[in-house]
Amino acid sequence: MAVASIIGGGVIGGGWAARFLLNGWDVRVFDPDPEAERKIGEVLDNARRSLPGLSDVPLPPEGQLSFHDDLGNAVQGAVWIQESVPERLELKLRVYRQLQEVCDPSAIIGSSTSGFKPSELQEGALRPEQIVVTHPFNPVYLLPLIELVTSPANDPAHIERASDILTGLGLYPLHVKKEIDAHIADRFLEAVWREALWLVKDGIATTHEIDEAIRMGFGIRWAQMGLFETYRVAGGEAGMRHFMAQFGPALEWPWTKLMDVPEFTDELVDLIAAQSDAQSGHHEIRHLERIRDNNLVGMMRALKHQNWGAGEVLNRHDQRIKAAMPGHVDEVKDLSQPILTLSRAVPLDWTDYNGHMTESRYLDAFANATDRFMELIGCDADYIASGGSYFTAETHIRHLDETHAGARIEIRTQMLLGQGKKLHLFHRMYEGDTLLATGESFLLHVDLETRRPCAPSAAIEAAMAKVAQAQAGLPYPDGAGSAIRRPE
Ligand SMILES: NC(=O)c1ccc[n+]([C@@H]2O[C@H](COP(=O)([O-])OP(=O)(O)OC[C@H]3O[C@@H](n4cnc5c(N)ncnc54)[C@H](O)[C@@H]3O)[C@@H](O)[C@H]2O)c1
Repeated sequence: MAVASIIGGGVIGGGWAARFLLNGWDVRVFDPDPEAERKIGEVLDNARRSLPGLSDVPLPPEGQLSFHDDLGNAVQGAVWIQESVPERLELKLRVYRQLQEVCDPSAIIGSSTSGFKPSELQEGALRPEQIVVTHPFNPVYLLPLIELVTSPANDPAHIERASDILTGLGLYPLHVKKEIDAHIADRFLEAVWREALWLVKDGIATTHEIDEAIRMGFGIRWAQMGLFETYRVAGGEAGMRHFMAQFGPALEWPWTKLMDVPEFTDELVDLIAAQSDAQSGHHEIRHLERIRDNNLVGMMRALKHQNWGAGEVLNRHDQRIKAAMPGHVDEVKDLSQPILTLSRAVPLDWTDYNGHMTESRYLDAFANATDRFMELIGCDADYIASGGSYFTAETHIRHLDETHAGARIEIRTQMLLGQGKKLHLFHRMYEGDTLLATGESFLLHVDLETRRPCAPSAAIEAAMAKVAQAQAGLPYPDGAGSAIRRPE
């Protein structure tokens, strides 16, 4: 099991700890704050409920979390060391000197710094080439972007290894090759932040109105296309050139106060704090974090369906995990038992007002299990593209127990009939040993050209015959073939 050390376990360090742990790494934490364990525990609770369900495949089993008073112990065996101590240069430099005396020289030291350049962090270090900036975004366990900022002191192999490790954690490393204070994203955010401070100070808008101006409109646009692609679309058929010709001159108008910074007087701080309290003070921070996570998961899963932006990153992470799974029934270890066709965490957007997994998602999960069974007998994307597939003719679901967001569920599938054009499956859904539900499906193989039933390929017939023979000893399941009884 790979080991990561978390140096500084506050808001950001806690998020890193969760990201590593939930992707199967062991995590060793060093933080002098006696509250660090409790704080990381709370971040982890949020992460466990939201991150695993973003994947449509199971993340690796969670790693081990440990806390250490001694820095040497904390970095023992670590291949990745993530520094997330407060944003003070002299403190960070001191931490690197202490770290480099005890850590493996080949380990990657990533800094979460929001503003310092890597060459500033490398100043006076024992091994400058070991330190890179890996700037994350809160919550680190959900948002994929990491600005990987390097200096000429970092060797390409070290940078590539850092990038590969981050990718393996489901993150999106954006290599910022030119050092700049505050990297890319925070430069941008600071410009927006300054403008917002002026709008409040000048009494033009409240904190609430500014947030509405963002989240009701361009904020949603930015999340899926960013700035330039959004403007390209806004330019219509003539595209970016037209957009720039139309709106470029406006940049000369005195719309912005960007270069001036409003003075942070007590009055301005009080004004903003009071407006923010009026806007959101009725929510506890942990509650707001959960709302934020629910929304992020819903939006990111929507992007996943479009295979776009952050959703494309999530799909690639799923594909990497899926590559290690059997591709065909021939590779399934024990075919005599019901076959594992789904293993995943219940996503946050699968739950309802009763606080448990909502009924339509049972159909979703069983449909995913059926798709996986089809894939295992050879009805995969290539086969479907060649003109054959299965259509579902009938489904029957029984709900036997409850399950909740973040719970790890598995579906095991027994083939009751797989012959000619007919495929009859019986799925059992479990959480641990508890049977949660069963789903029975009857499918017909069809010709996608005529949309009429027909026999599948010989290879699919052979795969079904193999499963039928292997599962012949299984008893006919309780509940199969049942229906809702007519009232007496
Ligand atoms: N908060 C954000 O949104 C955000 C986003 C991206 C990056 N960052 C960066 O992440 C870093 C940490 O920020 P944060 O918001 O998590 O701060 P934080 O105050 O929540 O956490 C800092 C933690 O470091 C610990 N610490 C202090 N001295 C230490 C030492 N010598 N060794 C080990 N631990 C020590 C503190 O006890 C605390 O738990 C900063 O560099 C910041 O710029 C913050």
